[in-house]
Amino acid sequence: MRRAIFPGSFDPLTNGHLDIIQRSSPLFDEIVIAVLNNPEKEPLFSIDERCAIIEEIVPDLKSGNCKLFVESFSGLTADFARQRHAAAIIRGIRAVGDYEYELRMALMNRRLQPDIETVFLTAAEEYSFVSSTLMKQVFELGGRVEGLVPESVVIKMRARLARAEGVEK
Ligand code: PNS
Repeated sequence: MRRAIFPGSFDPLTNGHLDIIQRSSPLFDEIVIAVLNNPEKEPLFSIDERCAIIEEIVPDLKSGNCKLFVESFSGLTADFARQRHAAAIIRGIRAVGDYEYELRMALMNRRLQPDIETVFLTAAEEYSFVSSTLMKQVFELGGRVEGLVPESVVIKMRARLARAEGVEK
């Protein structure tokens, strides 16, 4: 049984993340989508909201025989991967700019857990510019993010913005 983890902040989940999950599914029997709970960062969506958003979408994903799970974690990704007996850590590479940061993480994670490989998958071209940070920024400034994040995420972002504007008034 080959298990991998796909770690990230997922704040929010984007279609780029979904693309990577679907591309990696044929390679593993199980993938744990590992949502980082980082108390130092003020996220748009809480850890429970981020996990719930992903859990809602998982049944619609084309993952073949690969079972998908969603879990939150704190601390080191390498430790979480070991605790889950994962053979690999999945990361998506959108463009060459991602590579340096991802390489440093992969090498550090390998130093921490020499038996766990990082597997890089290249994102679909149409999502090669999509990041959670960019999606939040564009949305908050009134731009359209439809087609780049799942519809349910757009709805939740709208609700969050409306609530924030209500509080400001
Ligand atoms: O979606 P992101 O923000 O690009 O994901 C980055 C993430 C969560 C994979 C990375 O920040 C991480 O692994 N954080 C957990 C703490 C850790 O293990 N740090 C050392 C990485 S070598």
